[in-house]
Amino acid sequence: MIRVLTYGTFDLLHYGHIRLLQRAKALGDYLIVALSTEEFNELKGKKTYHNYETRKKMLEAVRYVDLVIPEENWEQKINDVEKYQVDIVVMGSDWAGSEKFEYLRDYCDLVYLERTEGISTTKIKEDLKLQNQLNGVDQIPTPKLVKKNNNN
Ligand code: CTP
Repeated sequence: MIRVLTYGTFDLLHYGHIRLLQRAKALGDYLIVALSTEEFNELKGKKTYHNYETRKKMLEAVRYVDLVIPEENWEQKINDVEKYQVDIVVMGSDWAGSEKFEYLRDYCDLVYLERTEGISTTKIKEDLKLQNQLNGVDQIPTPKLVKKNNNN
């Protein structure tokens, strides 16, 4: 059985993620996703919309994903490869040649898959923000709570 491992945040799940997971799974028989924890994201200066448990549940619902494990630090990868008997580590092409992954070639195969053009969690967040600004949503005052007078 060929076991494939990939790392990521997978916050606002989108078709770029799904395409990556689909192609990663197609490289083998069993796909493991190491999903960044909130603590690790904090370390990277990244803040997710969905918490770890929600992101994990969403990934577990994807047919290509067999197992989700936590990604807690930069140093765990060799241990992951050995513990889960991983044959191939897969990442999107934005990581191609990165020192964060290249050393894994001594332990398993390393494959970079081309990123899907025109979509990312960051872009979705920015587009929604822009759309809200254009719609004037930012200018609508927050409704104030009116205390109900029980005598009326
Ligand atoms: N990915 C991809 N194509 C995209 C977006 C992401 O192939 N359009 C891949 C990344 O290369 C990575 C995995 O999906 O291997 C998880 O990426 P992640 O950083 O969680 O997704 P992004 O949408 O890029 O998130 P952000 O904008 O917060 O960086």
